[in-house]
Amino acid sequence: MIEFKNVVKSFGQKTVLNKVSFKIERGQIVFILGISGTGKSVMLKNIVGLLTPDAGEIWVDGVDAAKLSEESYGPIRKKCGMVFQQPALFDSMTVFENIAFGLRKHFQLPESEIKSRVLKALSLVNLDDIGERFPSNISYGMQKRVSLARTIIIEPEILLFDEPTTGLDPITTNAINSLIQDLSRRLKTTSLVVSHDMNCALAIADRIIVLDRGMIVEDGTVESVRNSKVPLVKDFLAEV
Ligand SMILES: Nc1ncnc2c1ncn2[C@@H]1O[C@H](COP(=O)(O)OP(=O)(O)OP(=O)(O)O)[C@@H](O)[C@H]1O
Ligand SMILES: [Mg+2]
Repeated sequence: MIEFKNVVKSFGQKTVLNKVSFKIERGQIVFILGISGTGKSVMLKNIVGLLTPDAGEIWVDGVDAAKLSEESYGPIRKKCGMVFQQPALFDSMTVFENIAFGLRKHFQLPESEIKSRVLKALSLVNLDDIGERFPSNISYGMQKRVSLARTIIIEPEILLFDEPTTGLDPITTNAINSLIQDLSRRLKTTSLVVSHDMNCALAIADRIIVLDRGMIVEDGTVESVRNSKVPLVKDFLAEV
């Protein structure tokens, strides 16, 4: 569903992704772990065309996204829902309208259907009764969950999560991890989850990729990662 082939991305002198290659099958949940500043967000942004690689190929469902022009990116963006590290909600819209936005944009649905889907999405992220509030009047953790609801409501084939649970309490974190797991099982969604949380990765990932300074230093199942000899991976495991 997603394949990187020798992807290189630099900013000035700094090479952030250094010949990154991996392949993700449809329906898999893959966690990307790595310390801060190692290129995880840059990797996701390359998939949806917010950044373009300097070299290499990025295949998304049979299309080389790295070769697409900005105008031809539409179908891939529709296929990929991305939950950004920062919530980035529309401040002038209520929570309800923020979540309904993508539905209104991509689908022609009766208002009653929109309403029931928004309420369901809110309840899936453990938020009820805040539809009429504005983003500035809810907490950061709530904003993060609204941004999650806004993306999953579209039920995209590919979900890219950039640290979906960072800064959230353990109970909400568990709820969101179950949600990611449920979506991929029920809708066969392919999920790429950037995280610092080895615990979550060990609990729900089909596969774990560890990135260090722009290179993949570990890539395998939960079982193989548990037995990794790579120092950075051992450090992550030591935190569990
Ligand atoms: N648009 C940009 N222009 C210049 N440099 C950038 C840009 N985006 C990212 N970088 C640099 O690329 C490197 C990797 O950034 P990235 O955001 O991918 O890190 P990350 O692994 O997601 O870190 P974190 O865990 O803190 O979110 C950093 O050194 C960052 O400063
Ligand atoms: Mg990041």
